[in-house]
Amino acid sequence: MHARSILTGGLCAILLTACTQTSIDTRHAIKRGQVIYAKECSQCHGVNGEGAGPESLGIGVAPPDLTGLSARNDGAFPREFVRRFVMGLLEKDDPDAAMPEFAQVGLRHVYPDGGADGEVLEADFTDLLDYLEAIQK
Ligand code: HEC
Repeated sequence: MHARSILTGGLCAILLTACTQTSIDTRHAIKRGQVIYAKECSQCHGVNGEGAGPESLGIGVAPPDLTGLSARNDGAFPREFVRRFVMGLLEKDDPDAAMPEFAQVGLRHVYPDGGADGEVLEADFTDLLDYLEAIQK
């Protein structure tokens, strides 16, 4: 009996630790994604992703509200679409649209001194996608 309750207690503690660790990692990823977003995207897509950033005024196609990506996709966050669009792998409605192709330009505001060799690191991009998913309405 006693051994069993120790075992159960131990198992609970392990599970609890695992869960807490996961949510800390997720929160960390979202926070880091938010920093990347603020530096690379907010000037066009707005501080909160709702569009109308200061640079959006002078460009032909308005930068879409990024908090409505899931709503516009039957409630599911279109992670793969966002990944491909942001990297510049998909055709844009307007070929001259101001949206940079990040696979070409890299995260130049996150790494102003040319760090990461102008490449978008997978870890950075995953954090950015986690952040975008977290701000869906
Ligand atoms: C210089 C302004 C500008 C910046 C910076 C910018 N975007 Fe955009 N973005 C646009 C414009 C304009 C469009 C619309 C393009 C089109 O539809 O042809 C767009 C479209 C998008 C779309 C497609 C949305 C949809 O529903 O079709 C996504 C996703 C997106 N941007 C994400 C991002 C992310 C993430 C970043 C930062 C890493 C970013 N953008 C940076 C201007 C910008």
